Formats: sequence, C-alpha cells, structure tokens
Amino acid sequence: MAALFYRKGEMIMTNLILSGCSGRMGHVLEALCRDSPEFHVVAGFTLLRGEQREFPVYTVPLEFTGTADVVIDFSNAAALTPLLGFCTARRVPVVLATTGYCQAQLEEIAAAAEQIPVFRSANMSLGINVLLDLVRKAASILGNDYDIEIVERHHNKKLDAPSGTALMLADAAASALPVQPEYVFERQSRRQPRSACEIGISSVRGGNIVGDHTVIFAGRNEVIEIKHSAMSREVFASGALKAARFLVGVARPGQYSMTDLMAQEISQAE
Ligand SMILES: NC(=O)c1ccc[n+]([C@@H]2O[C@H](COP(=O)([O-])OP(=O)(O)OC[C@H]3O[C@@H](n4cnc5c(N)ncnc54)[C@H](O)[C@@H]3O)[C@@H](O)[C@H]2O)c1
Repeated sequence: MAALFYRKGEMIMTNLILSGCSGRMGHVLEALCRDSPEFHVVAGFTLLRGEQREFPVYTVPLEFTGTADVVIDFSNAAALTPLLGFCTARRVPVVLATTGYCQAQLEEIAAAAEQIPVFRSANMSLGINVLLDLVRKAASILGNDYDIEIVERHHNKKLDAPSGTALMLADAAASALPVQPEYVFERQSRRQPRSACEIGISSVRGGNIVGDHTVIFAGRNEVIEIKHSAMSREVFASGALKAARFLVGVARPGQYSMTDLMAQEISQAE
C-alpha cells in the first residue's frame, strides 16, 4: 500500500483521495471529511480543469505523486480505467461507488481486485442493504406466484437508467425465486400481458429526488410494497467513508461489498 496512517494528536488519520470531487457526491464527501477527525482529503480527481479546492486536483490520476491510504470514487463509469491504473500502480485500495458499469468494466474491476482491495456497491446506504435482505426473504416465501415490479425515482441529472440499486434489488429477488425471471425495462414495444416470470423495472427522473426505490410484490387480492427513500446524499457519503475504513482495515486484495461490511459490523456488535 502507498501509505498507512499518520497520527495527528491521538487520532489516526486516513489519507483519502476523492475521485469525482467536483460532482454532487464529491462535494458532500468533502464536507463530511472537513468535519471528520478521521479522514483527511489529500487530493481530488475530476474531469474539470482548473478547479480551486482545499486540496490539489488532478484530471489525470497518475499525476498525483503523493501518498494515500484509500480512494473513494463517485464519478463516471468512463473514469474507471485510468482510476484502476492509478490504484493498482500505487497499491491504493479503492471504494467504487460509481454506477453504470458494463460487463467488460466489471471484469476489469475483478482483475484489479486480484492486486488491491476493491469495495464496490451501487448503493452505499445501510438501509438499502437491509432492504435487499427483506426483498430476498419476501421473494423466497412468495415465489413466482407474486408479480415483482421495481420502481426507482431519481433527480433529473442522473445519467444511467435503471439505477444500479434497482438492478441489485432485482438480482436479490431473482436469487430467491425458483424460476429465473426475465428483466423487463419497457413495455411500450410489447403488446402482450405480463408473464408470471418477469421483473419489471421502471425509472422516474425528476427534480432533485435523491433516490427512492420501491419493490412491489403483487399477488391475487394483495399487494406488498417495500420502500426505501434517501433523504440526503449524506447517507451515501457516510456509507462510503465506512467502506473506506473497512477497506483500509482489510488490507488484502479482493472484492468486497456491503455484505462484508455489514457482517463485520454485526460481529463487532456481538
Ligand atoms: N453507490 C452509491 O451509493 C451512489 C450514490 C449516489 C451516486 N452514485 C453514483 O456516483 C456517481 C457520481 O454521482 P454524482 O451525482 O456525484 O455525479 P456528478 O455528475 O455530480 O459528478 C460526477 C463527477 O465525476 C467526474 N467525471 C465525470 N466523467 C468523468 C470521466 N470520464 N473521468 C473522470 N472524471 C469524470 C466529474 O468531473 C464530477 O467530478 C454516479 O455514477 C452515481 O450514479 C452512487
């Protein structure tokens, strides 16, 4: 690893790079770190040239020559290759919170995780990860007898659709169903009734909605809805800081997720 910790008084500090520092999430993370005795931002990566911040900003990650304990990335799927190039060359663990990766990029991430610790989650909130467990449980009990529909709602600036979280929720339900469902993203071109074996996923974009996800289990004469609403981006930013703390502690190459983080939190609470 490039660096471990340094001490400021009694506090162990973690040196952090914010990838995507000029974005919405980057600003929220910066504000949390400013108030934190634990995290110190040593650099930011962004697409925007000439940004003046409290830390040095780079458009090319490898131009940063300092040391860091961990990178948190809330940027864009297109930033992946140079970011992983930097992290593997400098042996810096990375928390990937960006969404919208294609299959080839997921393979790139898996290859990097053979060299460095990589934490990836399309949703950093603990609440959504509880929702995933609830959805798995409901699907295992209700099976293919209930129609599953997922509705996600986000702000009007979001680039990818459906959200990475909606896909995680669909995967959670599918993993618990006896017959594997087809994911249906639009019905306009289909002039046919819904089949029993599908999961419909709908995206709503508008205003400044931070992120809502509803999973609907519609049966004969009853409907169950399980919903999560993020009220503020802080929920994702503080989850990403928890993930960074976890990753620095793990220090072994591999792919990690919220499941690992939650398992660690439960075992520490026992
Ligand atoms: N995992 C989660 O919990 C979670 C929560 C919120 C957002 N997100 C995801 O995080 C990402 C960022 O969200 P945001 O709302 O802050 O976006 P944003 O558009 O406000 O900011 C994007 C940032 O990435 C940088 N960037 C864009 N393209 C780049 C490229 N090709 N190379 C390098 N940098 C690039 C921009 O300069 C900017 O700093 C999105 O993928 C979003 O879906 C994930």
